[in-house]
Parts: sequence; C-alpha cells; structure tokens
Amino acid sequence: MSEHLLINYIAQPGGHLSGQLRVPGDKSISHRSIMLGSLSEGTMTISGFLQGEDSLATLKAFRAMGVEIQGPDEQGRVVIQGVGMHGLKKPDAALDLGNSGTSMRLLTGLLSAQGFDITLAGDHSLSSRPMKRVIDPVIQMGADIKSSANENAAGTAPLNIHSDDKTQLTGINYTLPMASAQVKSCVLLAGLYAQGETCVTEPAPTRDHTERMLQGFGYQLEVKKLDDQRSKICLQGGGQLTACDIDVPSDISSAAFFMVGASIAEGSDLTLQHVGINPTRIGIINILQQMGADISLSNKKDVGGEPVADIRIRHAQLKGIHIPEDQVPLAIDEFPVIAIAAACAQGQTILTGAEELRVKESDRIQAMIDGMQILGIDCEGTEDGMIINGGEFNSGTVDSLGDHRIAMAFAMAALKAKSTITIKDCANVNTSFPGFIALARSSGLQVDAQ
Ligand code: S3P
Repeated sequence: MSEHLLINYIAQPGGHLSGQLRVPGDKSISHRSIMLGSLSEGTMTISGFLQGEDSLATLKAFRAMGVEIQGPDEQGRVVIQGVGMHGLKKPDAALDLGNSGTSMRLLTGLLSAQGFDITLAGDHSLSSRPMKRVIDPVIQMGADIKSSANENAAGTAPLNIHSDDKTQLTGINYTLPMASAQVKSCVLLAGLYAQGETCVTEPAPTRDHTERMLQGFGYQLEVKKLDDQRSKICLQGGGQLTACDIDVPSDISSAAFFMVGASIAEGSDLTLQHVGINPTRIGIINILQQMGADISLSNKKDVGGEPVADIRIRHAQLKGIHIPEDQVPLAIDEFPVIAIAAACAQGQTILTGAEELRVKESDRIQAMIDGMQILGIDCEGTEDGMIINGGEFNSGTVDSLGDHRIAMAFAMAALKAKSTITIKDCANVNTSFPGFIALARSSGLQVDAQ
C-alpha cells in the first residue's frame, strides 16, 4: 500500500475556495456495502463507491473469499453476486487490510464464525491500533481469536481467527465501553451468526450506517432509545440478507476539509454536492455553525435510507468555543480540520472528551498540536483534547505521520498562511480521498504533490 511512497504536499499561501464540487463517496458506507452485498442473496449494484485504498481493501478481501465482484468502474459502479450468509470461502492467504481500521474491526465480527481459519493483517499504523475492543466482546460470544500481543492490553493485529464447523457463537448483551461505531458494528455483525439475540448499548450516538443498511437488506433490527444519549440495538442471529442496491453519498468527512477551507478563506463561496448528512455524522456542521460559520443546506433528499444535501459554505469570521462533548462522536474524524478552523478563529477553542483521537491512524491530538506549534499557533494538547488560541499560520514543514486527515487538514491551513506550508508523508490521502489534489486545486487551493 502507499505507506512506502514518499509524497509531500507543498501548499502555497492565500486564495479562496469557490464553485461546485462533489467529493468522493462515503468510506463507512462503501465498506459496509461490500460486506453486506457479499453476504446477501442475489445481485446488487453499488453506485458512487469510494475508490480509496481503505474501501478497496475491503473489496479485495471479499474477492479473496470467493465473492464475484465487478468493478469499480470510473463512476464507482460495483456489481456483487452475493454468496449468502454461509457462502464465503477460506482465502489462500492472510487478508491484507492496509491502513483500514474499519475493515479490520468489522471483519473481526463478521468472520468470527465462518467455519474456516483466517488471519487479518494490516500496515504499520493499523498493526499498532487497539483491537482488544473488538476481540473481547466477540470472544465473549464464543469466538477464538488471537492477537499478536495478547499479553499487551491493547491486543494488536495480525489477528488469527480460528473457527470450524463446531464453532457456535451465542448472542450477547454488550455495553460499549467507548462510543465506537466500529465496535458496535463488529458485535452486530458477529450477532448475525450467533444463536439468539445480540444487543449493543452505546454510551452516546455513533454513526448508524450498519443499522440502516442491515434494515435496507431486509434484516429485522430493533433500536430502543434508553434516554437522550443512549440507545440499545438488538437483532436475532440466523437471518438472511436480501440483495439491495446502494447509492453511496459523498463523504461528509471529506467534505469537511472544504467546509473549513471555505469558512476561513476570505471571498470563498463553495457548494459541495450530494453530501451525506446522516444525523450521526453532522457534528462538523453543528460545530462550525456554533463557531459562526455561514453554512446552508439545500436539495435535501433521502438516498437509499441515508439523507443527503448540497452544502453551501461562505467565508465568515469564526470564533472560539468550548466544543460540546455530545458532538465529539458525531465529528470524530473531523477534529484535525476543526483544529485548523480553531486556529483561524477569534479567541480560544477547547476540545474535551476526545481521547479516542489518540488511537486513530495517528495520535491526532499530538500530530495536530506539533504541526500547529511549528506553524506558530499557541496551542496545547491535553489528555482528552486540545486548547487552541486563534492566531496566524507562519510558513513551516509539518509531518502528517502518514495520516490522511492530518495531511489534508494542514493543506487547508495554507489558505490563511503567510507563506508556504510543506506537509510530509501524504501518500495515505489515497486511503480516503483519491483525487484530493486535483479537486482542491480546481476549487482554488494552491497545492501540489511532490
Ligand atoms: C468508522 C467509525 C469511526 C471512525 C472511522 C470509521 C466506521 O471509528 O473514526 O473512521 O466506519 O464505523 P470508531 O467507531 O472507532 O470511533
């Protein structure tokens, strides 16, 4: 995968963002469409599939398990001949999931009782991320999974999953120790293969694409609201999925870079088309609006169970805020670029309750604080967040640490910088946003890859 290529971004200062553009398809929905499409009965078509390395890793994994998958073609059209719940075959080798945490965490549940042994492996970053959070509940359900470091509290990849025709999972009533859609989805996907009922209670709402898509494929699921914060999702094992076409909306997490870029750069007026605005993903809109951003939504519609809209952003002076903690899981992937917005805001922005940022593709608190300090911003990291005082970006060289979202966040900072910003190690932008440089340039960001 691209971690071995050394690509740096050189972003020139100034400019503004304008026009209409469509960012690539949603990564979370793309992964899930391959997984559920493969397990369904019948043929299904995905349109707008994200052709990034992460979702392609999921696609290749299912091909390696014997699923016939055509595409993606240039329009992101993928056609899958579903093999049914029990039609996957043992692959010839370990599944290489590259940089993709979603592939590994969801597949841990989905593959825990297929009746064959399988190894899930990943790149250097993925092999250092905590997997105990998914292994633990699935082992409680009866799975046999060994991580490479079981003595290590985090439990890391490669993961060896053992199952044969005697493997039988049992439903579980599981309360998530952290607000994580990946852990929730892992347990629910294992629950499809378990005897009896599997329930997951989440401490705060997290993205619900798995639940929506399971229902779209005709799987019965019950979502109970326990109170304002928590919900409990229950399903019975042993059901079937019926093939259903999926139209993948544009990824709000990719749109977020442009939303912040247009907010901070004077003269900007940008419309992002057909963006997914699932209520469990719109923390970026809520947070930017609280900071004073000028954002309006139009053309709202429902596409295959997911709401989408066009999002128009015009420049506005932002102000610092204490980001409400209930927005953190709803904007969990957007904090690198929210940090850039905060650095351009008047006053202080405080982020708390975001310790999960320390175990993403990089430690995103440290990566953003280190980079912003190099660029002259007065900011500090805390155990669970950041304190950022608005200021001005100087020129400098920052390290993305091979983290796609750190790289794209710092590229947007150039719109408000006094001089050139160089960003190191950007090849992994291809994991979530192929074509970022071309799209960013077409809307007004002066950025090059070298
Ligand atoms: C994802 C869930 C989030 C997010 C990740 C994609 C998903 O992770 O950070 O990029 O598709 O379920 P957590 O659930 O671990 O917070």
